[in-house]
Amino acid sequence: MHDHATAFRARLGTDLLTARKARDAQRVAVLRTLVAAIDNAGAVPVETAGDPSQPALGANDVDRRAQSTDELRDLLVADRDERRHAAEVYRDAGRDDEAGRLLAEAAITDAYLAGLGDGARDAWNTRHADRSPMTEPARFLTDRAALLPRSGRALDAAGGTGRNAIWLARHGLDTTLTDVSDEACRQAEVAATDAGVALTVERRDLGFEGLPAGRWDAVLFHHYLDLTVWRAAAHALAPGGVLLACQPTVRNLERHDRPSRRWLLEEGRLVAEVADWTGIEVVELTEAWIDEDRHEARLVVRRRPPPS
Ligand SMILES: C[S@@+](CC[C@H](N)C(=O)[O-])C[C@H]1O[C@@H](n2cnc3c(N)ncnc32)[C@H](O)[C@@H]1O
Repeated sequence: MHDHATAFRARLGTDLLTARKARDAQRVAVLRTLVAAIDNAGAVPVETAGDPSQPALGANDVDRRAQSTDELRDLLVADRDERRHAAEVYRDAGRDDEAGRLLAEAAITDAYLAGLGDGARDAWNTRHADRSPMTEPARFLTDRAALLPRSGRALDAAGGTGRNAIWLARHGLDTTLTDVSDEACRQAEVAATDAGVALTVERRDLGFEGLPAGRWDAVLFHHYLDLTVWRAAAHALAPGGVLLACQPTVRNLERHDRPSRRWLLEEGRLVAEVADWTGIEVVELTEAWIDEDRHEARLVVRRRPPPS
């Protein structure tokens, strides 16, 4: 299999397990269909898979051929469009409830489509190139300075153009910024040089490549939603290490059109998610309107030191 396709298939498998655990039936249904479609399309026909005189292989053992990103994209587009089409049929028949369910499922597939291949990278490159970078560190971070260690390794995940990573480096932490966008990484490097601070910058698609290796004494997710990656970061904390994350919730739509729903946390979702994380202490977990007029979930957890 093509590297990206392998990572994508693995990601869907991980998300399927998570959705099952969370009893998120709708997501489970979509992910099962997608995984099955990818597996079927990638399976090598029996006559070319090996010696036909040999016993048939189990479903998980069949040889697979390489799948290109374009093939995966076509599969996802077909799935999404089928659900949208079925939603229209239901709506015409006056079945708005079914139509709504199908549109929500189509949105799940659409979110995966947005992150496939270079789609997310291209879109974020354009956004970062078109707007002037924010330079002030987020108050969510600076207000919690006292919770952060003054030395060790920090990760600013999906750190954009570097405003928060530069603050973390100045705080005394050996800081790495990762972002999917080449343009964000380039601007972060320039900003760090201008600020005279050392920063490691890595272009990385967190959804498909995961976190950079190693243990972290501090991890920040400021406005990047991927609970699978947040969870992995909580596991990658060094003993005593702190994870800070904040993200608008769906209630933000009551006052603002953006961020779009794909980037919003369902209310209460974070509480359920964190309940599953092991070896951590929850220092802060709130959901509220904040003074910047956003409805935001805010999380701080610390990894407990091993029992002595
Ligand atoms: C709303 S911006 C927040 C940037 C930064 N954390 C801040 O607060 O200034 C979201 C960032 O996530 C990055 N991003 C989006 N998808 C990503 C992915 N799959 N992997 C890594 N970074 C991603 C974008 O390039 C963008 O810089």
